Amino acid sequence: MADLHILINRDQGGIAGQIASELREAIRHGRLTPGTRLPASRDLATDLQVSRGVVVEAYEQLVAEGFLISRVGAGTQVAPAPSRGSVAAAARPEIAACGPHYGHRPTSPDLGCFPRERWLASVRHVLTTMHSDVFDYGDPGGVLELRDELAGYLRRVRAADVHPDNLVIVGGVAQGLSLALHVLTQRIDGLRLAVEDPNSHRQVPLLRRAGAELVPVPVDDQGFDVTALRARGVHAVLVTPAHQYPTGVVLSPARRAALMEWAAESDGVVLEDDYDAEFRFDRDPVGCLQGLAPGRVILAGSVSKALAPGLRLGWVAAPADLAESIRQARGELDLGSPVIDQYALAHFLRTGGYDKHLRRMRREYRRRRDALVKAVAEHLPEVRVRGIEAGLHAYLDLPPGWDEDAFIGPARELGLAADPVGPTRLTPGPPAVVVGFARLPAHRAAEVIQGLKVRMSGQKID
Ligand SMILES: Cc1ncc(COP(=O)(O)O)c(C=O)c1O
Repeated sequence: MADLHILINRDQGGIAGQIASELREAIRHGRLTPGTRLPASRDLATDLQVSRGVVVEAYEQLVAEGFLISRVGAGTQVAPAPSRGSVAAAARPEIAACGPHYGHRPTSPDLGCFPRERWLASVRHVLTTMHSDVFDYGDPGGVLELRDELAGYLRRVRAADVHPDNLVIVGGVAQGLSLALHVLTQRIDGLRLAVEDPNSHRQVPLLRRAGAELVPVPVDDQGFDVTALRARGVHAVLVTPAHQYPTGVVLSPARRAALMEWAAESDGVVLEDDYDAEFRFDRDPVGCLQGLAPGRVILAGSVSKALAPGLRLGWVAAPADLAESIRQARGELDLGSPVIDQYALAHFLRTGGYDKHLRRMRREYRRRRDALVKAVAEHLPEVRVRGIEAGLHAYLDLPPGWDEDAFIGPARELGLAADPVGPTRLTPGPPAVVVGFARLPAHRAAEVIQGLKVRMSGQKID
C-alpha cells in the first residue's frame, strides 16, 4: 500500500479536486510509481477526515484521466507509465526503484512533502533575475540577502536577538557547531564542554574532532540538569532546549533561567542547538535562549527539519566578534555555502513559502503523532510515550527487561523508523527507543503498532 502524503486546505472548497491534484502531481513526479496500490477509499477518507464519496470522486477523476486504474477485487493502482505518456519515472530510475519507504532516521522529516514546486519557483527566480556576477565566490559568511531574511525570521519566530552581521550561513547545525567549537578551542585552552546525557551520539565525533573535552550532564524530565552542571567546572555547554534528543524534553522555564544565571556567573558560553524548534504541537511557542542573552549564546539552526537535510543549509548567530571569527574560519575551510541555494532560500523566505510549508507540515505531523500515540496506547499499553510536545520523534520507555534491539529490528521491518537509546547514553539507563512519526502515514499507525505487538509478544517483563 502506498505511503500517501496528501495535504488539503479545508478553507478552500473543492476537496476532491485538491486530493486529485495532489495525487496527479505525485504520479507526474514519480513519487507514486506505476503499479503502486492506493489505500482503499474508506481508509484514505478516514485518514484525511473527509467523506468517502470525496475520495471516490477524486479516484474516479484520475481513472478517467488515465493516471489510475481500478479493478474489482484488486483495488486502485497507479496506471502503467505509457498510458499517460509520463517520462517522470523513466527519467528518475532511483525514485522508481525505491518502493514504499518510511525512512531510516527517526528524526528525518517527510521528504515526500518537500515543496518542490515552490522551491523550483525560487530557484527559477534566482536564475532568471540575478546578474551572473553574483554566482562568483560569495562572502564566506553567506549572502547578505539571506542573512537579512533569516535575521527577520529568527526575530519574528524564535524571538532571537540577531542582526544580519551576527549571522553566518553554514552547511547545517553540524558544521555550525564544528566551526563555533573550532573558534572557541582557539580562544580557551583545554575547552571543557558540557553535553547532555543522553545526547545525539552522531554529533559526538564532530565535537571531539573540534578539540573539546566532553563532560556529560544528566537530562531529567525538566531538561538539562543545571545544578549538576555547576559542579562540573566547564567553559561551555551544548544544549537542545526546544526539543532534546533523544528524550524529547523541552527545557523548563526554571532551568532556562538557571542556565542563563550559570552563564552570567561563570562567564560561560551556551551553544544552543535549536533542534526541532519549528515543530511545536501542544504548547505556546517558546523563544530561543539566544534572545535572552545574545552576548553569551551561540544559536545554531538549519532547514534540515523544515525542508530537507540534503540541502545542507543552516546558520549560526553569535556575538559580533565570534561571528567574525566563525566567518573567517569558514573562509579558510571551504570558501562558503552554495550561492544559488542561498539566494533561493532568501526568496523562499521573503515570499512566504517557508512559513506556508511549516504551517502545513505542523498540522500534518501533529496528525501523524496523534495516530502513533493512540496506536501505542491501544496496542502496546506497557510502553510509555514521552517527549511528543514538539519535533518529529517520540521517546518510548520500554518495560524493564525488554531488549532495545529486539524492538528496533521488527519496527524497521514494519516501516517504523526507530533507533535504540542505549548508544546515546554516556551513562547506562533503562531500555528505551526513539521512533519517528514524520514518515508514518496516520492511516498506517495502528497496523504497524499491532504488528509490533505480535512481534514483541515473546519479550518478558522483569
Ligand atoms: C540534535 C541534533 N542537532 C543537529 C543535527 C544536525 O543537523 P543539521 O542537518 O542541521 O546539520 C542532528 C542530526 O543528526 C541532531 O541529532
